[in-house]
Amino acid sequence: MKFLLAILMVGPAYAEYDGLINLGERLFSDPRFSQEFATQSASINDPNTKGISCLDCHKVDSDFDPTTGLGMRTYSDSVAKTPVPLRLEDKIDQTLRNTPALVGIGSPFSATRFSHWDGEFADHSETVLGNFAGRNMGWLQSEKNRALDQIIAVISGDDGSLELSQEFGGSYDRVLLGVDPSLSDELRLNENDRLDVKTASKQDIIDLVIKSVTAYLNDLSFERDENDQYIGSPYDQFLLANGFKSAPSPGQTVNQYMVELRSGLAKLNEPKFIAKKYFPTHGREFGFGEQEWAGLKVFFNLPKADGSLNQGMCLVCHKPPTFSDGLFHNIGTTQLEYERVHGQGTFKQLQIPELDQRGETFMAASSTIEDPQAVDLGVWNFFARDDKPELTQYIRKTHCRDLNNCPNEALLPFMVAKFKTPGLRNLNHSAPYFHNGSSPHLYHLLHEYKRASNLMRAGELRNGDPRLRPMKLFHHEIHSLVPFLESLNENYE
Ligand code: HEC
Ligand code: HEC
Repeated sequence: MKFLLAILMVGPAYAEYDGLINLGERLFSDPRFSQEFATQSASINDPNTKGISCLDCHKVDSDFDPTTGLGMRTYSDSVAKTPVPLRLEDKIDQTLRNTPALVGIGSPFSATRFSHWDGEFADHSETVLGNFAGRNMGWLQSEKNRALDQIIAVISGDDGSLELSQEFGGSYDRVLLGVDPSLSDELRLNENDRLDVKTASKQDIIDLVIKSVTAYLNDLSFERDENDQYIGSPYDQFLLANGFKSAPSPGQTVNQYMVELRSGLAKLNEPKFIAKKYFPTHGREFGFGEQEWAGLKVFFNLPKADGSLNQGMCLVCHKPPTFSDGLFHNIGTTQLEYERVHGQGTFKQLQIPELDQRGETFMAASSTIEDPQAVDLGVWNFFARDDKPELTQYIRKTHCRDLNNCPNEALLPFMVAKFKTPGLRNLNHSAPYFHNGSSPHLYHLLHEYKRASNLMRAGELRNGDPRLRPMKLFHHEIHSLVPFLESLNENYE
């Protein structure tokens, strides 16, 4: 257990080589792994049959309109819940949650690797496999083996004729074999990753698919220089211009960095500002001036002119440089959704089973007027399940003062409606926000925080995070926090 935690806390850097990453990008963009393609295509190389790929929900530039500068996505999409391929067997027509942006999920500065809003998976590689063989790609749970067979069929049957295949070095078997002298270096696999598709086992092929897509995702990063310092956003440029670092130095933990940065900023009396500049992928100007500086002080709980401290509280969970702590908190999102449907004060009356009665129950659904038990309880669903030892251990470690005297039965109610803290870079490309996509823009979102913190103070937020109690967001604070959050935008392409 000590060993496991050491890995989670340090957050290994996942630098991989180009050949593997490019193979990952290709697999991520290939719609032939979907159920629709598998059942409707005439052959593996059929150019006319459609299907869904990861890229259809985790979009990059497919909707970009250069005349308005709108439509860029940092591997998210623009709807609260994304439509999923229809199947007659179940009634599911959309994803349970908002599609998160994927850029930065493999950052060497993220504290944990838990994947999904509710920490369902201990590592993003598990999510990758779950997706290739899962409902998002059209596959029912009972069809997992067919989905895996489809991966093998595509990899071995690809003849290199499709546009995507041509762009990435020809047929999969040629690229996986990796020996053809005409294969360019950036598409070539390292020797120990190469496979002869004709003789490789099914498991070896699947493993390579997972490994390469995970390497691709872990490589998606906001702009950093050769010393890992972030440089793309006006916020980062502001830090660098004033002699601060925009990321921890080697050997420094995120917490040490954060403390150092915060105390440095508290002493900064004459900040050098960053002039507004046009960002083509946003169709807007961003800079870092007086307003952003005022917002930063709220975000970082820095002193006001009268010496008292700002109480935005944001920093305690959204830790720079990624602006996430990789942990799970209840900031009221589920309760606010539930009470919009069922009325104020109803969430605390909701019957939630204790551990010994929970059994197979999952409470992971969008709230509807017809069903008062339809609710999304996030981490509650996976904590203390036999097949989730990493999540359970991590939560025990971070919640229990005395591990020997901390039964899971007592902890489960504290897992109600907790979700993973998302990063806050480049938010302009990933609206709407929150796990349920309930906030269309940042003003709305900050008013939700204000409501949640009022409920918390009134003792009306069920299992709310205690850090919401001191949170103070007056009108003018919201009006400076928005420009501050916008100064975290950059030209991600
Ligand atoms: C139909 C839309 C859709 C498709 C297709 C899709 N995803 Fe996702 N993805 C989502 C949603 C929604 C979530 C959030 C799920 C949750 O947290 O409950 C998600 C979450 C993820 C995450 C976790 C991110 C995080 O920060 O925790 C990863 C990794 C991921 N997807 C990778 C993939 C890969 C790889 C594929 C293709 C094999 C894929 N996705 C296909 C919608 C989709
Ligand atoms: C107690 C920890 C905590 C504090 C304090 C906190 N946040 Fe959050 N933040 C979260 C969590 C957890 C989520 C996801 C919640 C959900 O979707 O249900 C979130 C979501 C967000 C999002 C949405 C991002 C996205 O991609 O969907 C933004 C923006 C945000 N927070 C900004 C702020 C700001 C600004 C502050 C300070 C006023 C703040 N947060 C304070 C934990 C926190």
